[in-house]
Amino acid sequence: RSAPVIAVDGPAAAGKGTLSKRLAEVLGLPHLDTGLLYRAVARRMLDEAVDPACTSGEAVARALVPEDLKRTDLRTPDVDAAASLVARDQGVRQALVDMQRLFARAQGAVLDGRDIGTVIFPDADVKLYITASARTRAVRRYMQNGGSETAPDREAHISEIEQALIARDHADSTRASAPLRMADDAVKIETDALDAAEVLAEALRITKAAL
Ligand code: C5P
Repeated sequence: RSAPVIAVDGPAAAGKGTLSKRLAEVLGLPHLDTGLLYRAVARRMLDEAVDPACTSGEAVARALVPEDLKRTDLRTPDVDAAASLVARDQGVRQALVDMQRLFARAQGAVLDGRDIGTVIFPDADVKLYITASARTRAVRRYMQNGGSETAPDREAHISEIEQALIARDHADSTRASAPLRMADDAVKIETDALDAAEVLAEALRITKAAL
């Protein structure tokens, strides 16, 4: 394969999306946020009042169209939780494998998710594992959602977000199929003390050394 594939994995709200988008821009590669695939399946199931804990979303996953990924209502807390539920389903995961591999076939790609370096592209040219403490990730998500530095209920909000992130990471890393795990040959970037530009610089340094 000549087209480069860059795998970016890690827990929820670690900054994988921001990093992957910029990395792709700088390198001139297409970018796929694979979490959107699971979110789109979950969204459709919620819309159709199908319980993602009880019914397989495999048929929904097979019927996904690009428009499903462009919906603006894919990042709500109910979709966060439902996406993690549908992502446990081996049928759903299998239905999305080819889509992810095909995406990178022509020009290569930066893909971010949970199992890119372990399952989708075990032979990726570069594997990054982006992480930070649950507290750091919760604070970032709070600010991203428009949270204020001085709101009196700031702490309560942040700990609510933090608990939800921890629950989702636990579900994602303990499931049977394609759990969240750092690939043995991935390079870990701890981002607690780094801003977005510093994470990008570090990722570019690692990528350029590997390509
Ligand atoms: O990355 P994001 O938070 O948007 O992903 C939503 C959910 O989709 C995750 O919590 C996880 O359960 C699932 N997912 C996955 N494999 C991926 C990407 C996302 O299981 N490659």
